[in-house]
Amino acid sequence: MKNVKKEITKALGDELHEYLSLQKIDELLEVPKHENMGDLAFPCFELAKVFRKNPSQIAADLSASIKLSPLVVSTIKAVGPYVNFFYNKEAYTKELMTSVLKSAHTYGSHTFGNEKTIPMDLSSPNIAKPFSMGHLRSTVIGNAVGKILEKCGYNVVRINYLGDWGTQFGKLIAAYTLWGEGEKVRSNPIQELLALYVRFHEEAEKDASLVEMGRAWFVKLEKGDPEAIKLWKWFKEESLLSFKGIYNLLNVSFDSYKGESSHHQQSEEILTLLKEKGLLEESDGALVVRLDEEGLPPALIQKSDGTTLYTTRDLAAAIFRKKTYNHAASLYVVGNEQSLHFKQLRAVLKKMGYDWADEITHVPFGMMLKDGKKMSTRKGKVVFLEEALEKSIQFAKQNIEEKNPGLNQKEDVARKVGVGAVIFHDLKNDRLNDVEFSYEEMLKFEGGTAPYLQYTYARAKSILRKAEGDVTSYSFNAEDWGYAWSVVQKVAAFPEVIEQAAHYYDPSKVAKYLLKLAQSFNAYYANVRILETGSYQNGRLALTEAVAIVIGEGLRLLGVEVPEEM
Ligand code: ARG
Repeated sequence: MKNVKKEITKALGDELHEYLSLQKIDELLEVPKHENMGDLAFPCFELAKVFRKNPSQIAADLSASIKLSPLVVSTIKAVGPYVNFFYNKEAYTKELMTSVLKSAHTYGSHTFGNEKTIPMDLSSPNIAKPFSMGHLRSTVIGNAVGKILEKCGYNVVRINYLGDWGTQFGKLIAAYTLWGEGEKVRSNPIQELLALYVRFHEEAEKDASLVEMGRAWFVKLEKGDPEAIKLWKWFKEESLLSFKGIYNLLNVSFDSYKGESSHHQQSEEILTLLKEKGLLEESDGALVVRLDEEGLPPALIQKSDGTTLYTTRDLAAAIFRKKTYNHAASLYVVGNEQSLHFKQLRAVLKKMGYDWADEITHVPFGMMLKDGKKMSTRKGKVVFLEEALEKSIQFAKQNIEEKNPGLNQKEDVARKVGVGAVIFHDLKNDRLNDVEFSYEEMLKFEGGTAPYLQYTYARAKSILRKAEGDVTSYSFNAEDWGYAWSVVQKVAAFPEVIEQAAHYYDPSKVAKYLLKLAQSFNAYYANVRILETGSYQNGRLALTEAVAIVIGEGLRLLGVEVPEEM
């Protein structure tokens, strides 16, 4: 279904393309002050100069020559210097409803992705550390972007690139051998390992030999020392168990868990390749690729002690992904504090001669702040995500007990609402903005929240359950248009919103759109008696069902589950 304004813009463009761009026409079109002047008006003042005619004459000529389907616009009338357009709301809405109800959850899908493969690096938490709010952002943004791209016909491969390799594991192993207790770690792995890590940093400030010890353990780990490997494996298993609990709650899954450790061995090949191409330079005993021409600082490839680095492993992983997936684009949903890293990654790959380097696409997002400041793992200043999710679910439960204690499947609804609130709290913001973490904001279940949308969906569903009769032919009451038309136009806009969200990798476009749709529908619900029997009931029910379809599908794309009753 086409947007009516777009159709009119196009039709005007066919007449005026020599003088005005489509964008200019779009800007000129205005909503008349009085309803009896139509739904949209085009002023002809600007054309007077080029046509050397008076604006009223131009309006009269245009209204006679412009071609628009009577199914879209019923009347075109010149009034003074304006061309006024009257929409054919009835025909337009009938066609839209037929199409939405027939397509059901496939409404809004596109095929422009042509089944091309897009690997997406998302979530990617660091083992032996708590799952941070930054990782939550990556997980929920990535999950939503993936679903939106799939709806546009792409084949998305979700890769959880675990941070399971690097100097920090040397430090952690050192700390464990010094102060660790097996029992404690087993019973509360993440918190215990974090405590060891924090203690290591504190004591290393006083005792420099610890730094040396940590480094030595990482060298051992890279060389495959059995004791180092055994401890590292154990930390990783415990961490994964805890992460998977979070993924279950969030209802997110991955196609691959290939993390940094899966690529450290390929680092040798990367070094050889870089050497062959003469790209490596020594700098204080370390090996770097200079990126002066690109205006970037040099990329560190190997430390002076011979160990590999984050960038080295990412180079290996990028090459592996191109070989494995022959991708159209390779996405990295990672915080914007790593922008430089991804610029360097792309630049080094380009220098290595890979013509696909530009397919590396960083999808950055802002930070999650606490009291206006970045949260720091090293200092132990983090909000534990599981705690946040549990709090939200608890709050949802309380709400249900107060407002609807007889509800079926309370536990399941509370989980969907509580988790939905956390996810949506993140997604409704432009992804580049920093988000202040606030329980108060997150647990507000009204206004621009997931519970508000879930509630609107459940309300629509309950109306449909109460109504009898099948929804096959629809009539619309002209008196309803005041509230119905804005709902209709929003329903019609869904496919375009999806396309935009895919183009900008931006789920907030869907989130904001859903809030507007729900607002229009709730105003419609408050002012129009949807269930009143008579010849218009079918039309009203069709609109209600269309809204339920779009909200349900929109929330699914955002990774928010929707209960049928609330
Ligand atoms: N583990 C990293 C971190 O927590 C994020 C990894 C992002 N992905 C990548 N391919 N570099 O900061």
